[in-house]
This record gives sequence, structure tokens and C-alpha cells, in this order.
Amino acid sequence: IPVDPFDLVIFGGTGDLARRKILPGLFRRFCAGQMPPSARIVGAARTELDHAGYREMASEAIKEFGGTTAANSDKLNAFLDTVYYVAIDALGDDGWEELQELCKEKNRVEAYYFSVTPALFGDLAERLHYWGMAGPDSRIVVEKPFGRNLATAKNLNATLAAHFDEHQIYRIDHYLGKETVQNLMAVRFGNMLFEPLWNAQYVDHIQITVAETVGVGGRGEYYDKAGAMRDMVQNHLMQLLCLIAMEPPARFDPDAVRDEKLKVIRALDPVLPHHLMRGQYEADHSDEKAHPSYREAVEDPRSKTESFIALKTHISNWRWAGTPFYLRTGKRMSARSSEITVVFKETPHSIFGEDAGRHRNVLSIRLQPNEGITLGVTIKEPGPGGMRLIDVPLDMTFAEALGADSEHVDAYERLIMDVIRGNQTLFMRGDEVEAAWAWTDPIIHGWEERGEVPKPYESGTDGTTDSHELMRRDGRKWREVSP
Ligand code: BG6
Repeated sequence: IPVDPFDLVIFGGTGDLARRKILPGLFRRFCAGQMPPSARIVGAARTELDHAGYREMASEAIKEFGGTTAANSDKLNAFLDTVYYVAIDALGDDGWEELQELCKEKNRVEAYYFSVTPALFGDLAERLHYWGMAGPDSRIVVEKPFGRNLATAKNLNATLAAHFDEHQIYRIDHYLGKETVQNLMAVRFGNMLFEPLWNAQYVDHIQITVAETVGVGGRGEYYDKAGAMRDMVQNHLMQLLCLIAMEPPARFDPDAVRDEKLKVIRALDPVLPHHLMRGQYEADHSDEKAHPSYREAVEDPRSKTESFIALKTHISNWRWAGTPFYLRTGKRMSARSSEITVVFKETPHSIFGEDAGRHRNVLSIRLQPNEGITLGVTIKEPGPGGMRLIDVPLDMTFAEALGADSEHVDAYERLIMDVIRGNQTLFMRGDEVEAAWAWTDPIIHGWEERGEVPKPYESGTDGTTDSHELMRRDGRKWREVSP
């Protein structure tokens, strides 16, 4: 079903995110018939370009990052007819009149994507008002990083709140747009099977791993000021933790869901120093590409920023009291893999005798690659060998279960369509972001005060040795990171 006609202005329209994600994503929605041909996409940035020049750039970007549908040149031309460009000065007057003229048609959804440094959010918001382009129903989309601590996040929230109501502000966390993340909610709240067991009485522990094989690449300048805690844990891993741990919301609506997530964040325990490990990847000369070490990549031989982090925390509420949550994420690890694992407790007693061993169910929710949900169940080993037990996976790899034509929708394109539809369920509310920083800040201050330096880890491995020790001490083990 097509969404309503809209004007989407992308500030930072020539930037990396616009080229890699926003424009190719919109093109795919156009091909799927979801974006009405009367919609308009307006790139806005400092670069001097005309409409034709921007269309050329968009076309290149779609061919490079758009996937197979980009081969469809008729559709591409029709899509490019909806694309416009305005050279604009976010801090001055240049370009604003032209933008106003382009977007003057009313009776359509107006959305402004701030794909620029947060330092410009306030100026953009102010100018949109000054030029009469921000009505009570228009929406703004903002990207992370949303602040670098509680104080800066509060400032950003206040700056935006001076010009827009909360219902108009869409704070993107692209992890919430991933297919399996939403499926996690469907599995939890659409089945009778799981929810009664979803608590400290039956769950031994929960692991969340987001492993990447890439290094910091060309983003060293940003990354070295952030590190894995700010770049990944405060937002993406925190959101996953919320969805796995929250109480069932009364309805699948934005505030009901976000109220429950907020309660999880507020119930998180502080992280003890010995429940936290940080690392930096070493250089890798194993192939001809010769990957630099983290410190070489960020050009600071003394950098104390972590490219890997592992930690243990608890949620202090009735449901989860005593259940550890282990989180880890890092760059240059052995495989690209994001997975949430719910490890259930062992059966209390084995009727098959000690030889059969004690078994436990493991539910793994895989975000990427090979998205799907697998439940490990114990069965009898087939054959005449007596009552021997084995664990087998009940596999729900979605592409197989739903057929090859089940449509793959990228996180960004799904979220942008939600913006146009006016659905904030998969976006972070201001208080959620602040609560996440309120938990993160003391952890970061703690290691800064203690003067801790991240430990080196070999590229292509799963992080620092002490991160494995964190599990071993508790008689547990990380799930293997597998592609
Ligand atoms: C971004 C981080 O938010 O998420 C990056 O800034 C990280 O450092 C990326 O690489 C991971 O996203 P995905 O979708 O590739 O897992």
C-alpha cells in the first residue's frame, strides 16, 4: 500500500548516509510501489549542484548500493524524476527561499531528515521555522550520535523541543528497523509458548553479541572520540536489551512500547569495574591488505578508546532479579554476526540417568547475517542405541520458512516509511535516550578515573582474553561468533 504523498528533504543530501542508505532505500520502496510517484525527495547540502547533477549522483549511488533492483533502468529514471536538489547554507540565508518554493505545496507529509552533525540541529530547526516550513504535523528525523553523554543529550533534546513537539521528532536507531528485531516482538508476544518461561526462574542468562569484521576505516576521527560504548552499546545493544527484557506492552503503539523500554533502562544496575572489559584490535598482516591496528587507524599511538567491549549487567526488577545479561561488541572480530541468545536453565532432574547429561534449551535470535530464530531442543538420538539424548536446532530461518520471495526490506527504508506514516514505535523517545546515557555515563567516568587502558586483541578473534574470563568465572561461555 503506498504511503501518502510526501516531501522529504535530506539535509546532508550528498553525504555518506544519503548515498549508501537513504536514496537506495527510497528507490527500493519506489520499485515496490510504496512510494507514490508524486512524492518529492529534495537533497540539500552545501555543495553547488543543480537538479541534474544531484540526480546523477543519486543514480550512481543507487547503482552502487541499491542491490539488484537497481538494474531496472525505467524505474530508476521514473524515480529520479522525483529527486531535486538545493544548495543550502544551514547557518545563513542561501538556498532557503528556493527550498521553500520547492516545498510550497501543502496537503502532503513534510519530513526533514537531519543527516548532518548534531551541532547543526538547532540551526536547521530554527531556519525551518523562520522560513515557514515547519507546520504542526511536519516531522524531523535525527541520526545518532544523539549526544556524547547525558548533559549533551539533554541539550540536544532541549534544542529540538524549542521548535518541535516530541511527536514530530524521529530519533533513528537503525537496529530497530531490522526485520528480526521486530520478529523478536512477534515471537515473544504472539505466542503462548515463550512468555511464561521468560523470567529469572527459567532463564539462566542472556547474551547479546554484535560482532563486526570491519575496522574503524575512514571514521577514525569520529570513532576515537566515541568508542564501542558510545557508538554501539548506549544505543543499538541497549535497544536490543530493552526488547528482550521488557514487560509486554498493552498495545503495539509507540508510547506503550517505549514506556516499557524506558522501565528496563531505568532498572539497569551499574556495571562493576571487574564486570567490564575493553580492548583495541591489533594490526593484521595475514592477507595482502595488511590492516592497521586500531591505534594506527585513528592515528593516535596513545589512544585509550575501545574498539571492543564486553560487560555483565543485571536488571533489578521482579522478572529478572539475579539473571545476568552479558553484552559484547567489537570491530575486527572473527565474523560479522549479531545475535541475542536466551539460555534457559538446565532441566532440574534427569530421568535418563547421569550418562544422558543435563540439557538446556537455547533460543538464538539472529539479526544478521542469515536472520532467523533457532530454538535448541533436546531429543532422542535416532536409532537402536538406547535413550541417548542430543540437541537439535528447530530452525526458523525466515527466507526458508517464508519462501524465497518474502521481501527483504532494509532497516532504513522501513524506518523512513514509518516516518511518512507517522508511526514512532521504532524510534527512540527523548527520555529513553537520556536514561541510556544516565546508565552509560558513570561507567565511562569510572574507567576514565581509574585511568584504564584497553587491552590489545588480535584481529579476527573474538575480543580480549579477559572477556572470555568474564564468562568462565561464572561457569558460562560466549556463543561462538559464526558467520
Ligand atoms: C553504526 C555504528 O551505528 O552501526 C557503526 O556507528 C557500526 O560503527 C554500525 O559499524 C553497524 O551497523 P550494522 O547494521 O552494519 O550492524
